[in-house]
Amino acid sequence: MVKLDPIAEFREDHRKVRDGLLEMIESLNQKNAAKAGKILGNLNTLVGPHFRYEEETLYPALRVFLGEYVDQLIKEHDGVIATALACAELLKKDTLSEKEAKDAASAARALLIHVSNCDGLAILSERLKRKEINNLGEKFAAARKAGIPLLAWAQTIRKKK
Ligand SMILES: [Fe+2]
Repeated sequence: MVKLDPIAEFREDHRKVRDGLLEMIESLNQKNAAKAGKILGNLNTLVGPHFRYEEETLYPALRVFLGEYVDQLIKEHDGVIATALACAELLKKDTLSEKEAKDAASAARALLIHVSNCDGLAILSERLKRKEINNLGEKFAAARKAGIPLLAWAQTIRKKK
């Protein structure tokens, strides 16, 4: 079975997403739609397994600490997915107007806030029992192995729930 440190990997994903979003914002400020779109595509691939792991495994495990607040986390994901989808639509264009570039940059900033909030869950995860943490590691590895990008997952497996 694949061994993975779920807390370290969780935070490492956040660092990658943070850097990608910052780079995306910079590209949008330069009105480079092609570059911003490429970065968003990479983020879509990276965060698909991450979101899936969160919703299927991490959030249910954290219910012991957070109770009904977990439902709010899932609602936050709805917002992130809608924002990512709107951004992806916008970045299909070759050129962006001033307003479109600004809108996409502010969407990317909204995603950045989510990354920052989500990383706080690491401090709670540390208090789970060893057995539970091992299970998180297995499920995180499985989500990565399945490798379904965010928008594809959101429009298929996530919808069926
Ligand atoms: Fe996260």
